[in-house]
Amino acid sequence: MSEGLQEQFREVMARVATPVSVVTGLADDETPYGSTVSAFASLSMEPPMVLVSLVKSSRLLAVVRQSGRFGLNILGSAHSQLARTFATALAPEEKFTGVDWAVEAGVPRLTGALSWLGCTVEQEVEGGDHLVLFGSVSSLSSCAGEPLTYHRRAFGTHTKLEG
Ligand SMILES: Cc1cc2nc3c(=O)[nH]c(=O)nc-3n(C[C@H](O)[C@H](O)[C@H](O)COP(=O)(O)O)c2cc1C
Repeated sequence: MSEGLQEQFREVMARVATPVSVVTGLADDETPYGSTVSAFASLSMEPPMVLVSLVKSSRLLAVVRQSGRFGLNILGSAHSQLARTFATALAPEEKFTGVDWAVEAGVPRLTGALSWLGCTVEQEVEGGDHLVLFGSVSSLSSCAGEPLTYHRRAFGTHTKLEG
């Protein structure tokens, strides 16, 4: 792909508003891993399934592939700092410093997240430099609140239109 096309693709995608989640996994030695992810979507209703897309170099991805499980912590508008922290190259456990979390369904759950899905990996599909994981939902919860969104390289939230 030409550099020009790649650059234009980046700009097009920057103009797509996305939800923001922290995908989590637990290593064999119980070290928590987490990574900020915007490439998440609902996939199936029967059974309930989601998909997440992780770059092949992700340290979290290696842990998720090993354990066969991941947690999806869907963030609220107050969590932009959390999203920044989990997008860094900090050591895995350092990302969790000062963050309230507990193991649920075998993976880390961030206590303050707006919604939570515990998932079992059903399928992996290669997509260029990413791996798409199809996960079936085994546990879930949700609370009221405004979502965290990402648009034009900035965090924000949803605004309801009149009418
Ligand atoms: C708003 C935002 C959205 C992101 N979305 C994704 C994504 O969908 N998939 C992905 O692999 N990385 C995504 N990233 C980058 C990862 O969060 C980043 O590469 C992270 O440091 C990987 O950590 P790890 O190597 O510990 O897994 C995103 C970063 C930000 C700031």
